Parts: sequence; C-alpha cells; structure tokens
Amino acid sequence: MRKIIIAGNWKMYKTIKDGQELVVALRRDLYQIENIDIVVCPPFTLLAYLADALETSNIKIGAQNVYWQEEGAFTGEVSSKMLLDVGCSYVIIGHSERRQFFGETNETVNKKIKAALKNGLIPIICVGETLVEREAGETFKVLEDHVRNGLVDISTDDALKIIIAYEPVWAIGTGRTASPQQAQEAHKYIRGLLVKIFNEDVASQIRIQYGGSVKPENTEELMKQPDVDGALVGGASLKADSFTEIVKKAGEVVK
Ligand code: PGA
Repeated sequence: MRKIIIAGNWKMYKTIKDGQELVVALRRDLYQIENIDIVVCPPFTLLAYLADALETSNIKIGAQNVYWQEEGAFTGEVSSKMLLDVGCSYVIIGHSERRQFFGETNETVNKKIKAALKNGLIPIICVGETLVEREAGETFKVLEDHVRNGLVDISTDDALKIIIAYEPVWAIGTGRTASPQQAQEAHKYIRGLLVKIFNEDVASQIRIQYGGSVKPENTEELMKQPDVDGALVGGASLKADSFTEIVKKAGEVVK
C-alpha cells in the first residue's frame, strides 16, 4: 500500500507573516489526519519560520530547489545540508518552471536528486510534457527521457525513497486539469518505466503524485486512480480552505 502524499508548492508567493498564518490554519484543520502525508513547500525565506510553526505537527516542510554541492563559492545557491539544517524533509526537484526558466536539465536534476538522497532529503522529482509535445504524440517519449535520465545511477535502495510528480505542463496553473484517465495512463507508463529501471517490487512502492490544476473538486477522481498516489498542488495550496479540503478529500479515498 502506498500512502497518499499531498504537497503544496507555494512557488514564489507569501511573506513570512502570510505563511505563518497559513500554516497555523493548516495545523489547526489537519491535525487529525493520519492516513495522508502532508507537506508544504514555501520559498526559502520562510523555511526557518515555518519549521518552528510546524514543529511536532503532522505537516512536513519541503524546499522548491536545491544545489548539488555541499558548500562553496556558489553565490545564490542552497545545499541539501542547509535545507536539512533548517528543518526540511523534502525538496522539489526539476519542476517544469525551473526547466523552462532556469535552465534545469535532466543532468542537473540527476545531480540534485543524488545530493538530496545522500543527505537524507526526500526528492519530489517533477516530470511531464508540454502541450506541443502531447499534441505531437510525444508524451511517453518525454516521460521516458525525464524519468530515465533523471534517475541515472540511483540505487534501488535510494529509489524506494523518491517521489515522482507527473505534472503535464499544459495543466499547470491553467485550470485545465488532466482527466483522471489521462493521469492514470501517464502514471501507469511511468510505473512501467520504473519496473524496467529498477524492478517490479521497487516500482510498486514508489509514489507518483499528479500535479496540474488540482483543486478540491477534482481531487477524489484523481486520487481514485490506481497509480495516482498523491498530488503536488500549486495555486490551491495557497489558501487554507482549499488545501485542507484537498487533503481531506484525498483522505476519504479508499482504493
Ligand atoms: P497548479 O501548479 O496546481 O497551480 O497548476 C502545480 C505545480 O506547478 O506544482
């Protein structure tokens, strides 16, 4: 059984005060939830404050990016060790916005995954096709490229710790969600790749989240899909009401 994991990707939103208010509300509304792993991924500047605010709660913290070196003359970067130090358990790696705007490649994604795993952070690895690629019938080809090349030289032991997020780029921030069938088709394909890269047993344990315009109204149908093991939520994670509802709806899904 794969435990559903719902993570909020706050992107470049929220001041310290706004973030603290949000997590106080989430903590209050979600403290009884035990069957879902809950994660919030705020900007770097909020991490230390939210780690304090969420101490001893059932809500974990993740960062949105990491650099693969431990320390050194790398102006503007933050290492896995530093993220652990500030209280992170997770880190999002290879989000499509980073691939699109900040030159992230499968190679850098791979280095970041290795650094995160080495230091005990759980990487949430984002993969997914653009609209042009989908319309050209290249969805599986892109997924294979992202998954295989992102996971080069990851051991089976380490593979058990990773999370993959299937995020079709055309569904991110557009209000256009993948249908449950489209999500399931892609997730099943990704799991098949994981069987080939690792083995059946490992692949059956790796959680694959869906991301792209997840909201309370579509959570249940998406989470019911056999290979959908959670959600990476952008816009709807910025408000306590909608994120709480998504977590609770996911918690009601019986597979
Ligand atoms: P969205 O973003 O839920 O706003 O579409 C998801 C993501 O980018 O992780």
